[in-house]
Amino acid sequence: MSDLQRTHTCGQLRKADAGNEATLCGWVDTRRDHGGVIFIDLRDRYGKTQVVFNPEHNAEAHKKASVLRSEYVIAVRGKVLERPDDMINPKLETGEIEVVTDKLEILNTSETPPFEITSDADVSTELRLKYRYLDLRRPVMQKYLTSRHKVCQVARQYFDRNNFIEVETPFLTKSTPEGARDYLVPSRINRGQFYALPQSPQLFKQILMVSGLDRYFQIVKCFRDEDLRAQRQPEFTQIDLEMSFVREDDVINIIEGLMVEVFKTVLGKEITAPFPRLSYHDAMKLYGCDAPDLRFAMTIKEITDIAKRSDFKVFKSVVESGGQVRGINATGCAKLSRKEIDELTTFVNQFGAKGLAWFKVDENGLTSQIAKFFTAELQSEIIERFSAKPGDLLLFVADKESVVSQALSQLRLSIAKTNGLINKEEFNLSWVVDFPLFEYNEDMDRYDSLHHPFTSPHPDDLGFLEERPLDVRARAYDIVLNGIELGGGSIRIHRQDVQKKIFNLLKIDEATAQDRFGFLLEALKYGAPPHGGIALGLDRMVAIILGLDDIREVIAFPKTQKATCLMVDAPSKVDDKQLKDLGLSLQKPD
Ligand code: AMO
Ligand code: AMP
Repeated sequence: MSDLQRTHTCGQLRKADAGNEATLCGWVDTRRDHGGVIFIDLRDRYGKTQVVFNPEHNAEAHKKASVLRSEYVIAVRGKVLERPDDMINPKLETGEIEVVTDKLEILNTSETPPFEITSDADVSTELRLKYRYLDLRRPVMQKYLTSRHKVCQVARQYFDRNNFIEVETPFLTKSTPEGARDYLVPSRINRGQFYALPQSPQLFKQILMVSGLDRYFQIVKCFRDEDLRAQRQPEFTQIDLEMSFVREDDVINIIEGLMVEVFKTVLGKEITAPFPRLSYHDAMKLYGCDAPDLRFAMTIKEITDIAKRSDFKVFKSVVESGGQVRGINATGCAKLSRKEIDELTTFVNQFGAKGLAWFKVDENGLTSQIAKFFTAELQSEIIERFSAKPGDLLLFVADKESVVSQALSQLRLSIAKTNGLINKEEFNLSWVVDFPLFEYNEDMDRYDSLHHPFTSPHPDDLGFLEERPLDVRARAYDIVLNGIELGGGSIRIHRQDVQKKIFNLLKIDEATAQDRFGFLLEALKYGAPPHGGIALGLDRMVAIILGLDDIREVIAFPKTQKATCLMVDAPSKVDDKQLKDLGLSLQKPD
């Protein structure tokens, strides 16, 4: 056991402590040898303190210090000294003092780490994830985890104050309908049967409303076996809630209140609620996507009516086959070279667009290889529609609506990024409402729920549920932060007859419905109150607040793109005995 007992953290000592004794514990951050005097920056979660080993002050401690290397764990006792004015380090909170060591104890040694803990140098993701314990020792990572902790604390206190109770729901459960693949867990006791890890606590939180819990929340892990992108992880965390006897506005108000508190506490930033609301229809029309980045304008405009009067065959044939022509005004971008415009064309190709038509705007009108197909009159209509000025570049995609929307929404973002139109300091929160209840699944020739099958249809649209399902609005809402879907939720169906109708339209037959969600359908028969809720992606929220692009930065132990954990080496093979116990046998990989 160590003789030295910590009295202060490495971020604590100030000028007022000068003259006192202190014992510090921590990791050797840097070590400098100045003509016999050894200086160490000692680091812990709270900061760094300069520790001095002076042979004239204490020869024994100085001698012992000669073996110290980076990341050794030590305890030191000494006297706090005020530094002379010219030695003050304004970069350190403890920079006005140093500790002159009387006693040093080496608590542990360390091998040379595979990367420097302090440096911000580019270390590969693989190395960082394999040695995550060292990566997490970096002050910046500790700051991220602390911010995440703060968000959770704010949420817990906020929900508690608002009468929500935190209830845990099971991880070993049955498939939930969030639309991704399930992670399955084989049952040993019930051979041949599997649990599914929850994609969300959706059904349980609805059941809790039937139980009369009234207001539930949970900060909960969810599991989805899907292809990973920057904003997705196979296991991620939701701030999940459900409320009884509520309408859309009640859920929206609760979340707006939470976001205001989160920003105030974590960033010291005042944001104002209510956040603007946009209908799904307008979001798609103006921005081409359902999670628009509203930090800049560059809205999409339609010119199908103008295009069909032109002589440009590409446009005309698309319009004749029921497609559309829409475009954006990349203001000030007429200076782009042919090569740069070709690159934009290649960019939209990846989203299915067959080409990118363009016009440069100058004092005389439009110039382009296709300008000749547009009369002067049509050209001025186009200029007017985009309020275009000389120096602007107009970009168009002609195709079916889904392709045009996707291509232009991505193009809009890409141009805004390259042209610095996005204010990185801004946090833009908005709601997207009035989603359609269904989308048509061409492959399967059926309707699919846009959210999940328990989402309530808008009461005004119930009359044409069967005749015009695609026109039926859902009582669903998404919250969007800086162009990223932060959360989504809805008012649910609480009546069994409505739920049955929806299953019919989704072509989920009675037997399948019973098998998959029988317990919920049964519960709805026993006095289910009207209810609704929402779930926010915690990882996304913290990452965006901290200005990070990758949610892995705010997850202590994340997975790679291939859903592996490099630190523990998961997933991994298991013993034959384990497989036998589970009644499983493996096929040879293809
Ligand atoms: P939804 O599926 O929209 O809704 O999920 C809610 C939020 O969770 C986050 N999210 C993810 N974050 C990281 N990695 C992932 N793979 C991932 N998938 C989703 C997103 C998303 O907005 N039960 C419903 C909520 C409800 O209706 O109350 C649900 O899960 O930020
Ligand atoms: P083309 O007639 O194929 O040589 O195309 C002339 C211009 O129209 C080129 O700039 C193409 O990129 C563009 N173009 C071709 N197809 C489309 C389309 N579906 N939408 C928008 N522009 C297109």
